[in-house]
Order: sequence, then C-alpha cells, then structure tokens
Amino acid sequence: MSQRITLKVNGKTLTRTVETDQLLVQFLREDLALTGTHVGCDTGQCGACTIHLNGRAVKSCTLLAVQANGAELRTIEGLAAADGSLHPMQAAFKECHGLQCGFCTPGMVMSAVDLVQHHGCHSETQVREALEGNICRCTGYQNIVRAVQTGAAAMKGGQ
Ligand code: FES
Ligand code: FES
Repeated sequence: MSQRITLKVNGKTLTRTVETDQLLVQFLREDLALTGTHVGCDTGQCGACTIHLNGRAVKSCTLLAVQANGAELRTIEGLAAADGSLHPMQAAFKECHGLQCGFCTPGMVMSAVDLVQHHGCHSETQVREALEGNICRCTGYQNIVRAVQTGAAAMKGGQ
C-alpha cells in the first residue's frame, strides 16, 4: 500500500508517494539520495541514521516515512551553511580528529548538535551520556568527546 506524504527536508518542501512500510532512513537514502544518513544496524542500536525531526535528534531507522508526513527534517546534508562552510560542529570534528572511517560521523554530529541546542552544559560525562546511542567502531571516543565540547563552545559563541 502506498501513501502520499509532504514534508520539509533541509529547507525544501517535497511531496512523494511512499510505501507505507518504508523506513524513513530508506526514504532519505533511496528516494531522496541523501546518503549521508547511514545505516549501521537497522534496529535502533548504532545511531548512524540519526537526523533531526522537528528539531530533535531521532534514529531514522526507527520511524516509517509516513510518520514524517508534515514534519520538518534536517539531515547531515542540510547542516552546512548555504555557502558551503561547515557547521561549527562539523568543523570541530575535523579539527579535533573526531573521526577515522567516518561511518558513524553524520549521526554523531546530528546527535551532538541536538545536545548543544537542547542542553546547557557539556561536561565530558554529559557528552558521553548523550552519545550513548551512537556507536563508533574506530576512534575510542576520546577525540569525539573533545570535538563535541569544542563544537559546543563554537556554537555558543555564535560561530
Ligand atoms: Fe538506525 Fe543503526 S541504522 S540505529
Ligand atoms: Fe569509524 Fe566512527 S569513525 S565508526
């Protein structure tokens, strides 16, 4: 069965027909070619598929595309400025070497931006707790934590 949905993705309003059992992450990757949102597990464990839905971080493999009808989404492709300059959190991951293979990075960045936007303080403990749902198989997390703290400071400074 299919259904027509209208939603805003990275600032653009779109209408598409989707299968009612299509996952949101599949819709983003396969229908919209937004392949920066990754699939690591498909079962809500790894966080590689994290995006923002109505301003909050969600794992897009845990939602159906039809559940995003009427919503506003932001993916990693929509984070940089219109002129292509990196979002402060992306810049911090680059500067602090917060990635190796990069597979987890889009989800990490989207979760980190959510943390900064919705919580005031970013101690190492808070960052580690906030990123518990995002798994990285490469870095050992130390540089990711440093990147999030650096990015948080830059975001607060209005950069
Ligand atoms: Fe969604 Fe792993 S692919 S949490
Ligand atoms: Fe490779 Fe995180 S950088 S999984």
